[in-house]
Amino acid sequence: MYTMQKTPIDIIEKASDILRALRHGVLITAKAGGRVNSMAVEWGTLGFNWGRPVFVCYVRESRFTRELLDSNPEFTVNVPVGAFDRRIIAVCGSKSGRDIDKASALGLTLVEGEKVSVPAIVQLPLTIECRVIYRQTEDNALLPANLRASFYPAIERSHDTDQDNHIIYFGEIVASYLLG
Ligand SMILES: Cc1cc2nc3c(=O)[nH]c(=O)nc-3n(C[C@H](O)[C@H](O)[C@H](O)COP(=O)(O)O)c2cc1C
Repeated sequence: MYTMQKTPIDIIEKASDILRALRHGVLITAKAGGRVNSMAVEWGTLGFNWGRPVFVCYVRESRFTRELLDSNPEFTVNVPVGAFDRRIIAVCGSKSGRDIDKASALGLTLVEGEKVSVPAIVQLPLTIECRVIYRQTEDNALLPANLRASFYPAIERSHDTDQDNHIIYFGEIVASYLLG
């Protein structure tokens, strides 16, 4: 694991860049039991809860990332800045860490986190470090029927497809910086 200069950023000043990147996919990275794993996300919320800055992410129950987050409730959000290899989002958004080591397969350069045990990633250098302060499983019964039908069509039948429930993780932002 590398160390590298981290230039602190103001999350409010960078909010529009972060949200614009989210529309196309950013990574969240988790680490537990000696495994580091990143997954692509495009559902995310940046804001304030309980008087703290938070990044909220929505991870389906079937994801390997969910297992890691539940055993070590910390994550980094890894946001691309400028040109970058879009394969990173494609691979991290389609392969499971249960089957491959995505960081090695993609040649990602991991950098020790500042306040959390989870690394940052040089190739996606805008980094938000988060500690989970609250988690909640979605109650689909409360969603409008059209959204339930689009996003959870097979919820009764399946637990291992792209159709199962999201768990909502509220990550308190404990550090934010640009690598390099
Ligand atoms: C652009 C993009 C955005 C995605 N957003 C989410 C998301 O917000 N939540 C989610 O659970 N899965 C999302 N996915 C799917 C996961 O990234 C994908 O299932 C991944 O392989 C899970 O990896 P894991 O099993 O290693 O955790 C997205 C995929 C792509 C390509």
